Amino acid sequence: RKGFVIAVDGPAASGKGTIARALAKHFGLPHMDTGLLYRAVALKIWRWGGDPNIEFEALRACDNLGFDPDDEELRSEPISRIASKISSYASVRDALLQRQRDFAAQEGGAVLDGRDIGTVIAPEADVKLFVTASAEVRAQRRVRELLERGMPGHYDDVLLDIRARDERDATREIAPLLQAQDADLLDTSDLTAEQAIAEAIRLVEHKL
Ligand code: C5P
Repeated sequence: RKGFVIAVDGPAASGKGTIARALAKHFGLPHMDTGLLYRAVALKIWRWGGDPNIEFEALRACDNLGFDPDDEELRSEPISRIASKISSYASVRDALLQRQRDFAAQEGGAVLDGRDIGTVIAPEADVKLFVTASAEVRAQRRVRELLERGMPGHYDDVLLDIRARDERDATREIAPLLQAQDADLLDTSDLTAEQAIAEAIRLVEHKL
Protein backbone atom coordinates (compact mmCIF):
# COMPACT_ATOMS: atom_id res chain seq x y z
CA ARG A 1 0.00 0.00 0.00
CA LYS A 2 1.35 3.41 -0.87
CA GLY A 3 2.54 5.84 1.77
CA PHE A 4 0.35 8.38 3.48
CA VAL A 5 0.75 11.85 1.92
CA ILE A 6 -0.23 15.11 3.59
CA ALA A 7 -0.34 18.29 1.47
CA VAL A 8 -0.25 21.62 3.30
CA ASP A 9 -0.77 24.77 1.22
CA GLY A 10 -1.30 28.41 2.05
CA PRO A 11 0.08 31.94 1.79
CA ALA A 12 3.20 33.36 3.44
CA ALA A 13 3.25 33.31 7.26
CA SER A 14 -0.10 31.53 7.47
CA GLY A 15 1.42 28.96 9.81
CA LYS A 16 1.63 26.23 7.16
CA GLY A 17 5.33 25.56 7.80
CA THR A 18 4.86 25.20 11.56
CA ILE A 19 1.86 22.96 11.00
CA ALA A 20 3.59 20.81 8.37
CA ARG A 21 6.65 20.28 10.60
CA ALA A 22 4.46 19.38 13.57
CA LEU A 23 2.39 16.94 11.50
CA ALA A 24 5.56 15.29 10.18
CA LYS A 25 6.85 14.82 13.70
CA HIS A 26 3.52 13.63 15.08
CA PHE A 27 2.92 11.05 12.34
CA GLY A 28 6.59 10.11 11.87
CA LEU A 29 6.76 11.26 8.24
CA PRO A 30 9.54 13.05 6.34
CA HIS A 31 8.83 16.72 5.57
CA MET A 32 9.69 18.97 2.63
CA ASP A 33 9.31 22.75 2.75
CA THR A 34 8.96 23.30 -1.01
CA GLY A 35 9.28 27.08 -0.68
CA LEU A 36 12.94 26.45 0.14
CA LEU A 37 13.51 25.13 -3.39
CA TYR A 38 12.31 28.42 -4.88
CA ARG A 39 14.28 30.33 -2.26
CA ALA A 40 17.42 28.34 -3.08
CA VAL A 41 17.05 29.24 -6.77
CA ALA A 42 16.58 32.88 -5.77
CA LEU A 43 19.65 32.86 -3.52
CA LYS A 44 21.78 31.39 -6.29
CA ILE A 45 20.74 34.14 -8.73
CA TRP A 46 21.34 36.76 -6.04
CA ARG A 47 24.85 35.44 -5.35
CA TRP A 48 25.65 35.31 -9.05
CA GLY A 49 24.47 38.89 -9.41
CA GLY A 50 21.99 37.56 -11.99
CA ASP A 51 18.74 39.16 -13.12
CA PRO A 52 15.59 37.42 -11.81
CA ASN A 53 13.58 39.09 -14.57
CA ILE A 54 15.32 36.89 -17.12
CA GLU A 55 13.60 33.50 -17.12
CA PHE A 56 16.57 31.79 -18.72
CA GLU A 57 18.88 32.82 -15.89
CA ALA A 58 16.40 31.57 -13.31
CA LEU A 59 16.14 28.25 -15.13
CA ARG A 60 19.92 27.91 -15.21
CA ALA A 61 19.96 28.35 -11.42
CA CYS A 62 17.78 25.22 -11.09
CA ASP A 63 20.63 22.99 -12.29
CA ASN A 64 22.41 21.07 -9.52
CA LEU A 65 20.38 22.84 -6.92
CA GLY A 66 21.86 22.18 -3.50
CA PHE A 67 21.32 24.32 -0.42
CA ASP A 68 21.67 24.46 3.33
CA PRO A 69 18.14 24.59 4.81
CA ASP A 70 19.54 26.35 7.88
CA ASP A 71 21.02 29.20 5.85
CA GLU A 72 19.35 32.30 7.31
CA GLU A 73 19.79 34.19 4.04
CA LEU A 74 17.22 31.91 2.40
CA ARG A 75 14.57 33.53 4.60
CA SER A 76 15.55 37.16 4.09
CA GLU A 77 13.20 39.65 2.45
CA PRO A 78 15.21 40.21 -0.76
CA ILE A 79 15.32 36.47 -1.31
CA SER A 80 11.57 36.19 -0.60
CA ARG A 81 10.91 38.77 -3.30
CA ILE A 82 13.13 37.08 -5.87
CA ALA A 83 11.64 33.66 -5.01
CA SER A 84 8.17 35.03 -5.59
CA LYS A 85 9.25 36.41 -8.97
CA ILE A 86 11.02 33.30 -10.28
CA SER A 87 8.26 30.96 -9.05
CA SER A 88 6.00 32.45 -11.73
CA TYR A 89 8.13 30.95 -14.55
CA ALA A 90 6.74 27.72 -16.01
CA SER A 91 10.25 26.46 -16.83
CA VAL A 92 11.39 26.93 -13.23
CA ARG A 93 8.30 25.18 -11.82
CA ASP A 94 8.85 22.31 -14.28
CA ALA A 95 12.50 21.99 -13.31
CA LEU A 96 11.56 21.66 -9.63
CA LEU A 97 8.52 19.43 -10.15
CA GLN A 98 10.06 15.95 -10.22
CA ARG A 99 12.07 16.45 -7.06
CA GLN A 100 8.87 17.28 -5.19
CA ARG A 101 6.87 14.43 -6.78
CA ASP A 102 9.62 11.95 -5.89
CA PHE A 103 9.61 13.16 -2.31
CA ALA A 104 5.84 12.74 -2.12
CA ALA A 105 6.04 9.26 -3.66
CA GLN A 106 8.53 7.77 -1.20
CA GLU A 107 7.43 4.52 0.34
CA GLY A 108 6.63 5.63 3.86
CA GLY A 109 4.68 8.69 2.77
CA ALA A 110 5.50 12.36 3.35
CA VAL A 111 4.34 15.82 4.37
CA LEU A 112 4.94 18.64 1.88
CA ASP A 113 4.09 22.28 2.31
CA GLY A 114 3.91 25.00 -0.31
CA ARG A 115 1.43 26.68 -2.63
CA ASP A 116 0.48 23.97 -5.13
CA ILE A 117 1.00 20.67 -3.31
CA GLY A 118 -2.67 19.67 -3.20
CA THR A 119 -3.37 20.98 -6.69
CA VAL A 120 -0.28 20.13 -8.78
CA ILE A 121 2.45 18.23 -6.94
CA ALA A 122 0.35 15.64 -5.10
CA PRO A 123 -3.27 15.88 -6.29
CA GLU A 124 -3.82 12.36 -4.91
CA ALA A 125 -2.68 13.29 -1.40
CA ASP A 126 -4.56 11.54 1.40
CA VAL A 127 -5.04 14.77 3.31
CA LYS A 128 -5.02 18.34 2.02
CA LEU A 129 -4.97 21.30 4.34
CA PHE A 130 -5.31 24.87 3.14
CA VAL A 131 -3.94 27.08 5.90
CA THR A 132 -4.78 30.79 5.95
CA ALA A 133 -4.80 33.80 8.26
CA SER A 134 -5.62 37.47 7.73
CA ALA A 135 -2.89 39.55 6.06
CA GLU A 136 -2.56 41.64 9.26
CA VAL A 137 -1.98 38.63 11.48
CA ARG A 138 0.52 37.20 8.98
CA ALA A 139 2.41 40.51 8.84
CA GLN A 140 2.64 40.56 12.66
CA ARG A 141 3.99 37.01 12.68
CA ARG A 142 6.49 37.78 9.97
CA VAL A 143 7.80 40.87 11.82
CA ARG A 144 8.22 38.82 15.00
CA GLU A 145 10.01 36.08 13.07
CA LEU A 146 12.36 38.59 11.41
CA LEU A 147 13.18 40.22 14.76
CA GLU A 148 13.87 36.82 16.31
CA ARG A 149 16.34 36.17 13.51
CA GLY A 150 17.95 39.55 14.12
CA MET A 151 16.73 41.00 10.82
CA PRO A 152 14.95 44.33 10.50
CA GLY A 153 11.24 44.29 9.72
CA HIS A 154 8.73 47.13 9.78
CA TYR A 155 5.08 46.17 10.07
CA ASP A 156 3.78 48.49 7.32
CA ASP A 157 6.43 47.39 4.82
CA VAL A 158 5.93 43.72 5.64
CA LEU A 159 2.14 44.05 5.31
CA LEU A 160 2.48 45.70 1.89
CA ASP A 161 4.92 43.02 0.85
CA ILE A 162 2.63 40.20 2.00
CA ARG A 163 -0.31 41.72 0.13
CA ALA A 164 1.77 42.11 -3.03
CA ARG A 165 3.03 38.54 -2.81
CA ASP A 166 -0.49 37.17 -2.15
CA GLU A 167 -1.68 38.98 -5.23
CA ARG A 168 1.16 37.61 -7.37
CA ASP A 169 0.81 34.07 -6.01
CA ALA A 170 -2.96 34.04 -6.50
CA THR A 171 -3.08 35.57 -9.97
CA ARG A 172 -0.12 33.95 -11.70
CA GLU A 173 -1.02 31.79 -14.66
CA ILE A 174 0.80 28.63 -13.65
CA ALA A 175 0.01 26.84 -10.40
CA PRO A 176 -1.61 29.82 -8.67
CA LEU A 177 -2.19 29.64 -4.95
CA LEU A 178 -5.69 28.26 -4.58
CA GLN A 179 -7.51 25.93 -2.26
CA ALA A 180 -7.96 22.48 -3.77
CA GLN A 181 -11.63 21.50 -3.96
CA ASP A 182 -11.08 18.63 -1.58
CA ALA A 183 -8.88 20.53 0.89
CA ASP A 184 -9.87 21.32 4.48
CA LEU A 185 -9.61 25.02 5.31
CA LEU A 186 -7.74 25.91 8.50
CA ASP A 187 -7.84 29.61 9.41
CA THR A 188 -5.18 30.27 12.05
CA SER A 189 -5.91 34.02 12.56
CA ASP A 190 -7.28 33.51 16.07
CA LEU A 191 -5.33 30.39 17.00
CA THR A 192 -2.06 29.95 18.86
CA ALA A 193 0.48 27.69 17.17
CA GLU A 194 -0.42 24.92 19.63
CA GLN A 195 -4.14 25.24 18.85
CA ALA A 196 -3.51 25.28 15.10
CA ILE A 197 -1.34 22.15 15.35
CA ALA A 198 -3.94 20.33 17.47
CA GLU A 199 -6.64 21.19 14.93
CA ALA A 200 -4.45 20.02 12.03
CA ILE A 201 -3.75 16.70 13.79
CA ARG A 202 -7.48 16.27 14.36
CA LEU A 203 -8.20 16.90 10.66
CA VAL A 204 -5.57 14.35 9.62
CA GLU A 205 -6.75 11.72 12.11
CA HIS A 206 -10.22 12.08 10.68
CA LYS A 207 -8.81 10.79 7.34
CA LEU A 208 -6.71 7.92 8.70
O1 C5P B 1 6.58 29.46 1.33
P1 C5P B 1 7.68 30.42 1.01
O2 C5P B 1 7.37 31.83 1.41
O3 C5P B 1 9.00 29.98 1.57
O4 C5P B 1 7.83 30.39 -0.57
C1 C5P B 1 8.68 31.27 -1.25
C2 C5P B 1 8.09 31.62 -2.61
O5 C5P B 1 8.08 30.45 -3.43
C3 C5P B 1 6.65 32.11 -2.53
O6 C5P B 1 6.58 33.49 -2.80
C4 C5P B 1 5.90 31.33 -3.58
O7 C5P B 1 5.53 32.18 -4.64
C5 C5P B 1 6.86 30.31 -4.11
N1 C5P B 1 6.37 28.94 -3.94
C6 C5P B 1 5.64 28.40 -4.97
N2 C5P B 1 5.21 27.11 -4.90
C7 C5P B 1 5.47 26.36 -3.82
C8 C5P B 1 6.20 26.90 -2.74
C9 C5P B 1 6.63 28.22 -2.83
O8 C5P B 1 5.38 29.06 -5.97
N3 C5P B 1 5.04 25.09 -3.78
